[in-house]
Amino acid sequence: MKHPDLDLFEVRKEIIQVAKEANLDEAVYSLNYERNEFNFNFKIDDYDDSTMVDVLAIAKKNIENWRVHTFERGFLSIQALNNNIFHTEDILKNIKIRASGMYGEKSIEISKKSGIDPSELSLVLSLIKHFTKKKAPADPLSMLESAGCSVYHPDKNQSAFDQIAGYHNVINEVKESIILPLRHHDIYQKITESTRKHPESARPKAVLFTGPPGVGKTTMARIIARESGVPLVYIPLENIMSAYYGESTKRLALIFDLAAQYAPNDPSKGLILFLDEIDSLAPSRNEKLFEATRRMLSVLLRKIDGLESRAGYLTIGATNRKNDLDAALISRFDTIIEFPWPGREDIQEILALLASHLTPADVESLSERMMGFSPREIKDAMKKAERIRAHELIRRLEKGEIIKENLTEMDYLPSHDNYANAVEHRKASTGDSH
Ligand SMILES: Nc1ncnc2c1ncn2[C@@H]1O[C@H](COP(=O)(O)OP(=O)(O)O)[C@@H](O)[C@H]1O
Ligand SMILES: [Mg+2]
Repeated sequence: MKHPDLDLFEVRKEIIQVAKEANLDEAVYSLNYERNEFNFNFKIDDYDDSTMVDVLAIAKKNIENWRVHTFERGFLSIQALNNNIFHTEDILKNIKIRASGMYGEKSIEISKKSGIDPSELSLVLSLIKHFTKKKAPADPLSMLESAGCSVYHPDKNQSAFDQIAGYHNVINEVKESIILPLRHHDIYQKITESTRKHPESARPKAVLFTGPPGVGKTTMARIIARESGVPLVYIPLENIMSAYYGESTKRLALIFDLAAQYAPNDPSKGLILFLDEIDSLAPSRNEKLFEATRRMLSVLLRKIDGLESRAGYLTIGATNRKNDLDAALISRFDTIIEFPWPGREDIQEILALLASHLTPADVESLSERMMGFSPREIKDAMKKAERIRAHELIRRLEKGEIIKENLTEMDYLPSHDNYANAVEHRKASTGDSH
């Protein structure tokens, strides 16, 4: 059955409309309808074997039978058959598609020596839509991952702060200067808008965590990742530094540029860039390294506060060796949060978190022995005590002094003495450097 041809004016209108929606530039297509001959021609971005397969599939979907004129790399030409495929008269008047990738011209041409019916119009529109479908721009987060970063997503359902104990001042500072501004950006924005003649973002641009090793700087970044409501991107500085000469600076700059793309001018949709152990960029005495770190530093100095790009990211840096850092680098951070050695109360709270079965008196006496320990060392001593307990149990089981079935939950708990021994062991092995 032959469909009646459509009104020329309607066909034209629909094609132009779809081309417009597909962002097909007027400069790259032509639409003619002269002397009862239809011709539509448009340039495509790429031409390869799959272009021909796609054209065939789309053709077949709209009109059942075709005859292939030419099928070779770089050129495909097909023509629709008559309804009765054995009738070949006037076949040259049927609709014809050419896909060409030759001579640097990549284009698709649809022509017909008479009017257009509805299925033919649908064919034309499908071809336009298919070949103008832009590859979705890769999302900056996955590009950051391909650049070697790890991305941590926020977790709305969990409070991450219960992973650490003590350090109330540090936690308050982190909440005040990082988490609240990220979570409630609108409120901060309203306040600056009503106080300043030239409103600028009230949220921090760059925060530096300083303090000795093992006091929770890296852990805090992970907590922030979960609590802030925005993704945190971990930049592996060491890894980047070890790249080929010249590559490392390019990669670092790329990472910041990608982060800027993630939230351009949209402070409500931020991103945190985390530079752990930023001291790997401290000036080195080694001359070859010196040149490499100097170039990395100059990238960081330009990008760290995102001012250059008006970007929406917040940079967090962490260092154990603030004194070794370049002064210009330190000055880029608008907030510095110091993680001190834990005080007696911090130690007691950490003990209560990691050995919750201990009595207050035990905690008191152990904390005394642990003065000068970092949280990491406290944690390591706790683990050591757990291993000591396990050894004790295994030894007594093997000797037949006890049997497993009779052990209660209490028997598995490390004792105060187990902890005290672990602490002494730790002190002996570090030469009690504290
Ligand atoms: N306040 C704290 N309470 C409990 N555990 C802590 C605390 N601070 C750090 N830790 C633990 O100590 C270890 C070392 O912390 P980390 O964040 O790597 O320190 P840093 O990055 O400052 O060297 C981690 O296992 C962490 O869980
Ligand atoms: Mg760390």
